[in-house]
Amino acid sequence: MPPALVPLDLLPWSRHHLERVERALSLWVGDGAPAGLGDAMRYAVLDGGKRLRPLLVWAAFEAVQGMPVPPGDAPQGGAAAALRAACAVELIHAYSLVHDDMPCMDNDVLRRGKPTVHVQFGEAQALLAGDALQAFAFELLTPEDPLVPADVQARLCRQLARAAGSAGMAGGQAIDLASVGLALTEDQLRHMHRLKTGALLQASVMMGAACAHPGPVAQAALSDYGAALGLAFQVVDDILDVVADSATLGKTAGKDAASDKPTYVSLLGLDRAQAYARALLAQAQAALQASGLDDTRALAALADMVVNRSH
Ligand code: IPE
Ligand code: IPE
Ligand code: MG
Ligand code: MG
Ligand code: MG
Repeated sequence: MPPALVPLDLLPWSRHHLERVERALSLWVGDGAPAGLGDAMRYAVLDGGKRLRPLLVWAAFEAVQGMPVPPGDAPQGGAAAALRAACAVELIHAYSLVHDDMPCMDNDVLRRGKPTVHVQFGEAQALLAGDALQAFAFELLTPEDPLVPADVQARLCRQLARAAGSAGMAGGQAIDLASVGLALTEDQLRHMHRLKTGALLQASVMMGAACAHPGPVAQAALSDYGAALGLAFQVVDDILDVVADSATLGKTAGKDAASDKPTYVSLLGLDRAQAYARALLAQAQAALQASGLDDTRALAALADMVVNRSH
């Protein structure tokens, strides 16, 4: 039996991965976009956010590859693909937030501690910034140089497209808007949350893994982990909307009840919603145990962070 690994301290583990992602995003996003569009794109993406999705990409990549990615700006091999995947999922996420905040959707004025993009730049520019960020995500996944093999590029594009589109985020957002004022069943609410938020988080895990070519057992286990973590994330988002304040969240607290949105708190009450988040965390950790991978500590720590976070 291999020696037990000491628990991983997430902060130092995250630091160089985050630095690399920030530098890459800052270098790539908005470069040369005309007529103020680049400013709106950069405002939407840079200086804020927990960057959970890029961290999931790195953690899954390292777990499958079986060794850590050393610090540095020019990763090689699968890590070059992972850097692009990490940035691409964050671009889709940032675009989804820009559109989610617009008056035609949640009509929010605060995001990541700043005025929302449409407040700062106007609705048309916010719409276009979201559009351009989405397109750029796929451009990043398809570099012309041979750094990322064509089959990996195609797989990453397919995974991200499915998670972002009508079978994922956009579909879930449509259900969210159609559900205002309705009492959904638990099955219906779970389905909405899995699509609108869970799909992109699960895709982050699977894209990171894909860059290191997992075997079938690890692939299935990571898919289960991503599904449990993705759902847990939105359950906790629903809880934080009730229990946290706007300054801590960097977005307006209490919006779900004010907008009459069905959430896990409105369906189950606070205590049972919290218990459900903990049960999903246990499911995510069990999936890691079943993965056959030697070191899943970063994935385990990220799941723990998702459920025990304050913002
Ligand atoms: C908020 O996501 C929107 C949801 C999908 C619930 P995050 O809480 O990950 O937002 P940032 O990226 O940290 O701002
Ligand atoms: C948004 O869910 C999910 C997205 C796809 C952006 P919410 O509307 O609950 O996200 P917040 O609370 O505004 O961040
Ligand atoms: Mg919303
Ligand atoms: Mg919202
Ligand atoms: Mg919310």
